[in-house]
Amino acid sequence: MAEIIRAENSGFCFGVKQAIEKTEQQIYNNKDKKIYTCGPLIHNQFVIDHLASQGVGIIYEPEQAHRGDVVIVRSHGETKRFFDDAAKRGLEVVDATCPFVNKIHQLVYEAHKQGKKIVIVGDRAHPEVTGINGWCDNTALIVNSKEEADAIMGENLFLVCQTTIKKELLDEIIQVVKSKNMEMEINNTICNATKERQESCEQLSKKVEAMVIVGGKNSSNTRKLYEISKKNCNNSFFIENIKDLPLKQLRKCNKIGVAAGASTPECVIKEVIANMSEMITNEKNSMEDFMDEID
Ligand code: F3S
Repeated sequence: MAEIIRAENSGFCFGVKQAIEKTEQQIYNNKDKKIYTCGPLIHNQFVIDHLASQGVGIIYEPEQAHRGDVVIVRSHGETKRFFDDAAKRGLEVVDATCPFVNKIHQLVYEAHKQGKKIVIVGDRAHPEVTGINGWCDNTALIVNSKEEADAIMGENLFLVCQTTIKKELLDEIIQVVKSKNMEMEINNTICNATKERQESCEQLSKKVEAMVIVGGKNSSNTRKLYEISKKNCNNSFFIENIKDLPLKQLRKCNKIGVAAGASTPECVIKEVIANMSEMITNEKNSMEDFMDEID
């Protein structure tokens, strides 16, 4: 009978849990106030739809809200200007920036004040990177490949990373920096939750015949899990929920692994596992019925 194994570390990370809890508290405590998140709270449509059904709106700039409105800053964090403008506008800001991201903001803010040139390793379009860049007046050099790192010039450089990048990317960039003899202070700010999820996914993907990676298609950390899994296991599937389950392909496999990104709700993961277990049980039953018939 097929076996389903869940990756040791999968699903909501500490920072995402905290953001969800803070938002739930606001919904409960501030029934008479308008509540917004700044951008979608997490990269998961299931959660976003649920919050919308509770009346939580989404804004992108403080100007979109009014005095006294509650604005929740998500775990990705925001620029310094956002906090300054929100205060000027009289918004009630609930800061749910992940403490690990907050630490990067402080590092970058201090280093920038000391005249250091900030280098961010990460995806320039990702809100976490935009937020970090906003703590050094948007002056950072942003690199996302060794080719881009090769073009870095200057001195007194101070490097931080987007929390969800792959360790291999940072290692490649450090190699480039060393080969150019550049003076650069390197801060590995990759978050442990990301590392743990990536390692669990990698180990599991080496042991199974198929991997199911559960999470929002726009979740960068879930996409990375899929990429890692695909390297070891050809039958890797990136799904958002049970509707996407490739049951036909999974039926052929005896060992199926399940991993999930840091923004994937527990209920979605459990539903996926339950659905696969049901598929396996049904198959076992129909096989037993068949054996009974031919007995
Ligand atoms: Fe924070 Fe790491 Fe999660 S930076 S939001 S605990 S992936």
